[in-house]
Amino acid sequence: MQTTTDLTKAGRPTEEALRRYREQGFVHFTSVLPADEVAVFRAAADRLLAEEGPQTWGASEEQAQVHYVEAAWRKHPDLRRLALHPAVTGLAESLAGGPLRLYGTDVLKKEPRVHLPTVVHDDEPGLPLAGLTRTLTAWIPLLDVPADRGCLVYVPGSHRRPAEHRQVHLAGFQDYRPMEEIWPEFPFSPRVAVPMRAGDVVFHDFRTVHMAAANTDGERRLAFAAVYMDSDATYRPGVQDHPVAHLEPGAPVDGELFPLIAVGPGGAS
Ligand code: SIN
Ligand code: NI
Repeated sequence: MQTTTDLTKAGRPTEEALRRYREQGFVHFTSVLPADEVAVFRAAADRLLAEEGPQTWGASEEQAQVHYVEAAWRKHPDLRRLALHPAVTGLAESLAGGPLRLYGTDVLKKEPRVHLPTVVHDDEPGLPLAGLTRTLTAWIPLLDVPADRGCLVYVPGSHRRPAEHRQVHLAGFQDYRPMEEIWPEFPFSPRVAVPMRAGDVVFHDFRTVHMAAANTDGERRLAFAAVYMDSDATYRPGVQDHPVAHLEPGAPVDGELFPLIAVGPGGAS
């Protein structure tokens, strides 16, 4: 059986990795980033969490699923380096099969025995963007995330479910509907938990259904997530659209706030 350790060759996904991503909608790469670099990124994430007074993912503090700092790459130079890291962006662009821009980044912390499981969702309806075909998220643990520390859980193949079983766009949170209502097969669909070590990266397609368990371990779960969008995406008013709300609906989401991830011999720009 092929393991996750041989899914890259010269820093690019192997055919097997591309096949897994295409068929399952996610792929886990091990040892993408060396430990000394991860330690620098972790220190930057901890600093932002301490300085920023993180936001809460959840209806209230009592119902918090995660504490997060958004736009982390614009707030700390080391996290900018991580968001544009050639080892990450090279894999992202190969998996996507076309040009990408950085849309957003979050530092994500799930405290042991405090935070609730992360709600079942896919990323598409929460993105105030149109024209998406290849958008994907890189989820990068900054500490080991064993199975009981709130690791991500995916529904393989869920990115290929038909449009009538997807909530493509959320004009407002009042339109939100739970996954089992939109996709009746969801409760019967097999799931895959992805425990990870610091330095690994998992990528998921913007339509792949995912969630995370509660953290029942004794250590916090600390991760960085970067969304890389289709380079020609446009603004479509929706939820969480403050990063793009200065634009006219239909306008390209580009410029220095949403840099192209230039991948080539020179690495990311
Ligand atoms: C989480 O970190 O628990 C969820 C991240 C995501 O939805 O991408
Ligand atoms: Ni998500």
